[in-house]
Amino acid sequence: MRIALVGHGKMNRAVAELAAAQGHVIQTVIGGAENVGGAALTRERLAGSEVAIEFTRPDQAPANLIALAGLRMPAVCGTTGWLARLPEISEAVIAHGSALLHSANFSTGVQLFLRGARDLARQFAGQPGFAGFVVETHHAQKLDAPSGTALRLQAALREGDPGRAYPVTSIRGGFAPGTHEVVFDAPFETIRLEHVARGRQAFAAGAIQAAEWIQGRQGVFTFEQMLFGEAP
Ligand SMILES: NC(=O)c1ccc[n+]([C@@H]2O[C@H](COP(=O)([O-])OP(=O)(O)OC[C@H]3O[C@@H](n4cnc5c(N)ncnc54)[C@H](OP(=O)(O)O)[C@@H]3O)[C@@H](O)[C@H]2O)c1
Repeated sequence: MRIALVGHGKMNRAVAELAAAQGHVIQTVIGGAENVGGAALTRERLAGSEVAIEFTRPDQAPANLIALAGLRMPAVCGTTGWLARLPEISEAVIAHGSALLHSANFSTGVQLFLRGARDLARQFAGQPGFAGFVVETHHAQKLDAPSGTALRLQAALREGDPGRAYPVTSIRGGFAPGTHEVVFDAPFETIRLEHVARGRQAFAAGAIQAAEWIQGRQGVFTFEQMLFGEAP
């Protein structure tokens, strides 16, 4: 694949490294300074690219995705914190016959963890002796809190156990690429289910897999749909 990288921060640098190791070509890299409001996303700048992988900032992703849709450039977006704008972005993707695959978490392990958490929550439904809550920990630079994955986790838990709210506590500090923990706590016992990302490679691998999958497709998809054929 010939890939355009939109954003060249921690995530897209991990994508570049893994993509090169897998024999893909990074056709172009579009950085923040040149691309305010998606200004650098032009036909000329993307010439030769087959797919764009977008990891930027929550306030920048919507303009980038709308510009990529206008160019009918299939896009994989991992930026978090912009989902309130999804209806408008989906409209642009569909109107132009383009394709977008987005996810707050491109780790296959996390997607399996979300399904496992939902199933575990089902067991706790109707057990008032336990409190259920989520703790998520990320590096100090992460802009959004709670993380997009924590919100997905909360939704999955509520789906399995609608009687509990599953509040989220967010911790920001240090260098952790992402840890999500579900805790069921009773006065004399605790059950924990935890996913720990040990590096950004897990997310990069999923984003590259998604870039391959989206080739030749039209419409708006999630990584979950790609993996499981449905939302978790
Ligand atoms: N989905 C997943 O699996 C996953 C995994 C990890 C992180 N994330 C999310 O992915 C996003 C990026 O994370 P990161 O760790 O790579 O952040 P980062 O290291 O801060 O990098 C963000 C990069 O985006 C660039 N940028 C900002 N606006 C831009 C624009 N309009 N066009 C092009 N580039 C632009 C910045 O460049 P300048 O510094 O030049 O402005 C910066 O290099 C965050 O929202 C994070 O939460 C998602």
